[in-house]
Amino acid sequence: MFNIRTRIKELLSMEPQGQDITVMGWVRTFRNNQFIALNDGSTNNNLQVVLELGKFDEDTLKRITTSASLKVSGKLVASLGKGQKMDLQAETLEILGDSDSEVYPLQPKKHSLEFLREIAHLRFRTNTFGSVFRVRHALAFAVHQFFNEKGFVYMHTPIITASDAEGAGEMFKVTTLPFDQTPRNEDGTVNYSEDFFGRATNLTVSGQLEGELGATAFGEIYTFGPTFRAENSNTARHLAEFWMIEPEMAFFDLEDNMNLAEEFIRYIIKYVMEKNREDLEFLAQRLADEEKQLPQDKRSEMGLIEKLEFVLNNNFERLTYTDAIEILRESNHNKKKKFQYPITGWGMDLQSEHERYLVEKHFKKPVILYNYPAAIKAFYMRQNEDGKTVAAMDILAPGIGEIVGGSQREERFENLTARMKEMHIPEEELWWYLDTRRFGTVPHAGFGLGFERMVQFVTGMTNIRDVIAFPRTPKNAEF
Ligand code: 4AD
Ligand code: MG
Repeated sequence: MFNIRTRIKELLSMEPQGQDITVMGWVRTFRNNQFIALNDGSTNNNLQVVLELGKFDEDTLKRITTSASLKVSGKLVASLGKGQKMDLQAETLEILGDSDSEVYPLQPKKHSLEFLREIAHLRFRTNTFGSVFRVRHALAFAVHQFFNEKGFVYMHTPIITASDAEGAGEMFKVTTLPFDQTPRNEDGTVNYSEDFFGRATNLTVSGQLEGELGATAFGEIYTFGPTFRAENSNTARHLAEFWMIEPEMAFFDLEDNMNLAEEFIRYIIKYVMEKNREDLEFLAQRLADEEKQLPQDKRSEMGLIEKLEFVLNNNFERLTYTDAIEILRESNHNKKKKFQYPITGWGMDLQSEHERYLVEKHFKKPVILYNYPAAIKAFYMRQNEDGKTVAAMDILAPGIGEIVGGSQREERFENLTARMKEMHIPEEELWWYLDTRRFGTVPHAGFGLGFERMVQFVTGMTNIRDVIAFPRTPKNAEF
């Protein structure tokens, strides 16, 4: 058996008493032919391995280079040096894998995030990405724990679908038809009956519609899976492939939906605050250092941890879209024409600059906007009595903008089909969805949390490409 080792995170919390320990990991640095900083990915903190002079041969010492992998056994003793509590006094040392430091792209110095994106296959070996991805893991785990504790059923909705849940037409096609000799119908359109599924299919943009099928049987379900959007948005908060959490609840109205979303966000933040304190502290310092380069007015008012604590301790501001438009219209920012997209009036779609103004400048806290104009929202949202708005809600977070989108669903068959007709969505395509409204329809609601945007919020990383292992963005699918 090979895998007998102590993880460095666990080891660093032990009292050094000369105990025999085996560790395995990768060399971060090697000084004076004597001191190895060894990292195994369990924490950013390295273990100092001390090699007694003369104990190991020259050849072995030469092979201890940055990122070489080692197995070291020895005694854990109190450190004589300062900077660390304990050392591993090496007795045996085995090089598991050599690393040519001449060509290894990660040097023990600060690299830019842009450069690290080009070597995304190695960037997990840096402190920043070590922390980001441990936090990402913890958030994902907390998501499941939250819903499991509440009795929700985790539902795996399909990745390949024939429907456009959001009706926005931003889909990646899935096909095995040849490009050069595409089978055609008489009218020149593609003959999908010859395609793999015998019909046109795409990668899912959301699991919601299938989620509604689950909610109207189990009561409460959630999905947590990859979703795909072929929107050509090259921004710091858009990915073509991102992960979304979509709870869907029968017997919920819009207010119940907002309450659950707030509780959920607090729960997962609290979880990482407890479990990943060290990583968050590292990321908070990283962000503070990064912001030192910015002019004063561009810096965050709160540190990362302070911000997360604030979210735990303060309710989100809730206001209608209509009230938000008034605030924006009356703002000095608008009067001084500082918005790139001026506030033209009720009915306009909000841009992220507007959302961020509300959250960062006006309320200085997360905001839930609700009751949006029907015209700018999806077909499935419940029509309000006023005949103009729908029971939609978006949660806007400081530094990010929209982090959650959700709504109470239109459960009334007639209203739903009328709306679909207006939006040219054929009933035949969604016959199965409409069946939920035919057979025991119930008031229900749900929302989608963009997982990467949540990870951005918690880690303080400004670019969404730095919180997913291998980002998919326009013109980029390396690794
Ligand atoms: O607002 P969206 O489009 O809502 C839905 O898909 C609904 N079906 C959700 C539901 O009610 N079940 O997307 C939900 C969230 C957004 O608020 C945002 O956080 C994230 O998904 N999101 C993206 N994240 C990264 N890159 C993109 N291109 C994203 N598009 C949406
Ligand atoms: Mg949205």
